[in-house]
Amino acid sequence: MTDTTKILTHYDLSHANTMALSCVARHAMILDSDQRLADDLAVALAFAKNANLPIFVLSGGSNVILPSTLNALVLLPKTTGTQLISQTEQSVTLQVACGENWHQFIQTCLNQGYYGLENLALIPGLVGACPVQNIGAYGVQVSDFIDKVIAYDLQTGQACTFDNTACDFGYRHSFFKDNPNRYLISHVVFRLQKAPNILTNYGDLADVSGKIASKNGRTTPTPMDVFDAVVQIRQSKLPDPAVLANCGSFFQNPIIPIKQFHELKAKFSDLPSYLVNDDFIKLPAGWLIDKAGLKGKGIFPILTHEKQALVLTNHHPRHASQHDIKTTQDFIINAVKTMFGVSLVREPVWLDEHI
Ligand code: EPU
Repeated sequence: MTDTTKILTHYDLSHANTMALSCVARHAMILDSDQRLADDLAVALAFAKNANLPIFVLSGGSNVILPSTLNALVLLPKTTGTQLISQTEQSVTLQVACGENWHQFIQTCLNQGYYGLENLALIPGLVGACPVQNIGAYGVQVSDFIDKVIAYDLQTGQACTFDNTACDFGYRHSFFKDNPNRYLISHVVFRLQKAPNILTNYGDLADVSGKIASKNGRTTPTPMDVFDAVVQIRQSKLPDPAVLANCGSFFQNPIIPIKQFHELKAKFSDLPSYLVNDDFIKLPAGWLIDKAGLKGKGIFPILTHEKQALVLTNHHPRHASQHDIKTTQDFIINAVKTMFGVSLVREPVWLDEHI
């Protein structure tokens, strides 16, 4: 008979999502042992099949909008550990368990002289979730450093490995995002560099990291200086979810045809933009929302952040619901569409009560 003692019932997820939405899962299971992971998953899959329940994997909960009740078996991966797989003079390959804290993992890498992830400092969440939306910041995407992703197929229970190409990475996109609720990512294999490659051409990163370097008596920044600069910049404009509930960027930066961009630029000469290719341009959604007069605004209790309009914040933690998010989300989408003719697309994963 299957041992179901680890299956929890009516599990409160309001502390397990950084947006602090009130949510109770019908069932949950904490996956806390790397050694027992395959066995635990076999139990979970059998239980879900028997109860006719879908399975949902909730990682750090920093990029998800949860319903008040979630009619599912929620898997909470908490396994930790980092294994050195191989190294050359130039690079190191590390296999990292999904429950490792992302920011602490980068810090550990830097302390050991493994470079590349410093621009991605302070992004909330766990290692296992980083490939799903291909987290990115300050000119770097995590896909630049992912060698492989090791996962369990939740339909078959089989372990499977995806190389970088199979992950089909794009801007805030991956194969896993296209196949929601299908895989539990158990490990991410990173290839990091032993020689620093400083990338500071995004926004004010060159300026801030340069200042930190010179304060430390250096002429050029080290990866640790860049890491400190990213932390400083993020802390200056992004709310700490532990203090003010949020889930980071709420909208993707929209990509529009060049022709539409020129029409907008004629009306709004200060419109910032990033060239994607000869035909398309990316606009900062935060700027559009700000320009529409909605910085620090919204419909209570969900308001845009006062220092970064792209982030929605929850001012009634553990009480506000998904419905409150939708109200403010639609208000913003309509205002931006009316003013600029641009359709904003939500970035975090939206879960319905019945998946
Ligand atoms: N801006 C405004 N007003 C605002 C917000 C932004 O005018 O309220 C302007 C800024 O002055 C700047 C431009 O918009 O000219 C872009 O802003 P920023 O550099 O802060 O970056 P972003 O495009 O808003 C993206 C990522 C962030 C990431 C930063 C830094 C997306 C959807 N968001 O934001 O990612 O930290 O770049 O690389 O791509 C996240 O995904 O949760 C996230 C925070």
